[in-house]
Amino acid sequence: MKAMILDAPGGLDRIRLADIDDARAPAANEIRVRMKAGCINYHDYGVASGRAPTEDGRILLADGAGIVEQVGSEVTDFLPGDAVLTCIFPQWRSGPPQVSDFSQTPGDGVDGVACETFTGPVGLFTPIPRGYSMAEAATITTAGVTAWRALLVNGPLQAGETVLVQGSGGVSLYALQIAKALGARVIATSSSSHKLARLRALGADHVINYRDEPEWGRLAHEWTGGKGVDHVIDVGGPTTLPQSIEAVKIGGHIAMIGLLGGLEAKIPMIPVFAKQIRFQGCLNGSWQDQADLVEFLATHEIRPVLDRSFRLEELAEAFRYEESGQHFGKIVIDI
Ligand SMILES: NC(=O)c1ccc[n+]([C@@H]2O[C@H](COP(=O)([O-])OP(=O)(O)OC[C@H]3O[C@@H](n4cnc5c(N)ncnc54)[C@H](OP(=O)(O)O)[C@@H]3O)[C@@H](O)[C@H]2O)c1
Repeated sequence: MKAMILDAPGGLDRIRLADIDDARAPAANEIRVRMKAGCINYHDYGVASGRAPTEDGRILLADGAGIVEQVGSEVTDFLPGDAVLTCIFPQWRSGPPQVSDFSQTPGDGVDGVACETFTGPVGLFTPIPRGYSMAEAATITTAGVTAWRALLVNGPLQAGETVLVQGSGGVSLYALQIAKALGARVIATSSSSHKLARLRALGADHVINYRDEPEWGRLAHEWTGGKGVDHVIDVGGPTTLPQSIEAVKIGGHIAMIGLLGGLEAKIPMIPVFAKQIRFQGCLNGSWQDQADLVEFLATHEIRPVLDRSFRLEELAEAFRYEESGQHFGKIVIDI
């Protein structure tokens, strides 16, 4: 089969198309899936670029959707012909956090889904939402589940609350759509006026250009009538935390999601104590979180925002496009 693999030590010019033997039949608790679509995320980019070293010859990509071809003798959850979607942590079924690494995550600790057929443990898959295309489904695993866990499980978000989402990336767009579907008010930030208009069209109640308005946290706080926002989806880390702290209400929740601004943060401690802020680190979610989100997306008729699609062989180009920051929504891979 065709697969996109990474030669050690990584780097986008070391991604190449390979012909790999895929004759292995699924073990008792495994299923074999004909992959149809994948989706790229920062984590995959970290692996592909060599910043998060992996094994020589690793097949890339964590998020993918496809059709079950064959099931192992003990599998009862799926049948050949079912549409399925990978999850990030097959070892985390449900409940509180149980993992802190990517040792069993496709495209990192184990081979990923940038290939024609993928065989893995049944616990690595959920169904896809009814009515979703394969490309739409493939966007759920990393971006969707992280937004869901941050808002619904860790939040937990209540109708009428205010959520601040940063930038127009995959996690923030899912958080915006989920929050609006649950009756929350959403403040969205972006570096581009064109993207702000699109965020408005998706339902954002208030938008702020974080490039033109470096004090966007104070502006968000003012927009809430001086109360502050209930939940912040923080994707910038060092570059956004001081303003996230400005924006949040007394006793509010800052979901620590991303590191777009770097790995080490300097934060003002006095407002952290004074506001009694709850910081909650979030690392994707459990199998159950993904299954709950799949159900939620189907019943609330939320459609993910797709940006561009690339062919499997164009995976390195897809990463370069992600690097350019032009995208609005998810970049998908047609397999
Ligand atoms: N913890 C987890 O489980 C988890 C899961 C998924 C992602 N993440 C992390 O979350 C972050 C976002 O991921 P994503 O997939 O949503 O990214 P993405 O789709 O690539 O989007 C990132 C967007 O964030 C905005 N942005 C870029 N640099 C920024 C900065 N320094 N400060 C504020 N905003 C900035 C830009 O929006 P505009 O162009 O609109 O300005 C950019 O398009 C990444 O660091 C990723 O590694 C973490």
